[in-house]
Amino acid sequence: MNRSAPMFPAPSRHKIRHPRVHAKHGKHQRGGDPPKPQGHCQSLRKILSVTGRARLSETPRFQPLIFALYILLFSLPAHAEPTPELLPIWREVFARPDTSRLNAIPAPAGNKLTPAKVSLGKKLFFNKRLSGDNSRSCSTCHDPNRAFTDGRERAAARDGKTMLLNTPTLLNLAWAKRLFWDGRARALEDQANIPIEHPQEMNGSWPTIIARLNSDETVTAKFKQAFPDQPAPTPQTVAAALASYQRTLISPTTRFDRFIAGDQSALTKPEQAGFNLFVGKAGCIGCHSGWRFTDDRLHTVPVAGSTTSQQRTIKTPSLRGAPKSAPYMHNGALPTLEHVIRHYQFSIETRLNFSTGLIHPLRLSHTEEIALLAFLKSINSIN
Ligand code: HEC
Ligand code: HEC
Repeated sequence: MNRSAPMFPAPSRHKIRHPRVHAKHGKHQRGGDPPKPQGHCQSLRKILSVTGRARLSETPRFQPLIFALYILLFSLPAHAEPTPELLPIWREVFARPDTSRLNAIPAPAGNKLTPAKVSLGKKLFFNKRLSGDNSRSCSTCHDPNRAFTDGRERAAARDGKTMLLNTPTLLNLAWAKRLFWDGRARALEDQANIPIEHPQEMNGSWPTIIARLNSDETVTAKFKQAFPDQPAPTPQTVAAALASYQRTLISPTTRFDRFIAGDQSALTKPEQAGFNLFVGKAGCIGCHSGWRFTDDRLHTVPVAGSTTSQQRTIKTPSLRGAPKSAPYMHNGALPTLEHVIRHYQFSIETRLNFSTGLIHPLRLSHTEEIALLAFLKSINSIN
């Protein structure tokens, strides 16, 4: 990766194109007038009337509908502002859930959220006693000041080398349907032991950890409060408390949320244009949908930073917290959001075995790139 390359270089159109697939996208434009937004609105309303009030983006069986929305919107011209008729639909797709009360946050029946578990989990999350040589805690890599990431391309291994993967954010995981870049874990309760025991992450051993926890009265008192039926610390209660704390890591309400809630003035005109590109011409909503900006699905995508057209199947990451979670992608190959947009703009090769129909080279002007970037930042901007 050439880090000294200028941001948003003058658009060059010499990148790989795939005539067959472009002919397919071209279908929308060929033969007659471009489609009228009003027609789209009627189709979208039809889709919504099928889904009723259900949250489109959160329910797997509505994913095909998001895809249908995307296919319809891909052929819309890029307006400076979102089409007013579509705003109710975006309110539905991007609505934040109620997070004002602890029991509004999703948690499994076997590990209900309680203030005592959250408080214990927080103490454990920042506690270096969970590592073999007392040198690391979860927060060594998941730093709250960096949206719970570490600012590194790939995580630091204990032997001084780097691990294979970039550290992802821990925001909004209570709603996640899959964990890890390859989606291999389903529940936060199952995940916590992995970094604790991993020789290159924390290299912890349970008998030692439990003995250390038992030697601290403040900690044992917290275990008693959190798990009255099983007051002595165990690997399971450590994992349950860590999971409870992580479920409360929720990204704050931002200007984008205020816009979606009905305050048109919460986003500037360029940010609104960027939103229109995100849900329309740039096709980002095909995968980054819903209030967390992820469909929680695995996609076959071209690997960033690779000179050959490698591919991997990777979970769509959330875009909440993105301005603080650089560098980007599962291998940390892209240092800034500008590089991410440049990747989607120029490095994407359309191949039939990439997530079909969803990945294609963009055709954005310089102004449009800037608007898309402004929108990505507005998702995370509080004021
Ligand atoms: C050495 C750095 C490091 C430490 C220490 C660490 N993690 Fe991670 N964490 C990572 C990396 C790297 C990944 C991505 C791994 C993968 O996808 O296979 C990850 C992934 C995760 C995920 C999945 C997030 C997602 O969006 O899918 C969770 C949850 C998590 N870590 C929680 C924890 C907890 C809890 C601890 C402490 C017990 C911890 N981590 C300690 C580096 C670390
Ligand atoms: C086919 C589904 C798909 C589409 C369409 C898509 N993305 Fe992604 N996006 C992904 C996946 C999967 C990754 C992770 C790729 C990786 O780690 O190599 C990703 C990564 C990202 C990241 C990095 C996040 C992080 O934490 O590392 C950003 C930012 C991003 N996409 C923005 C966009 C924008 C902007 C668009 C529209 C131009 C877009 N995406 C279109 C699936 C998609």
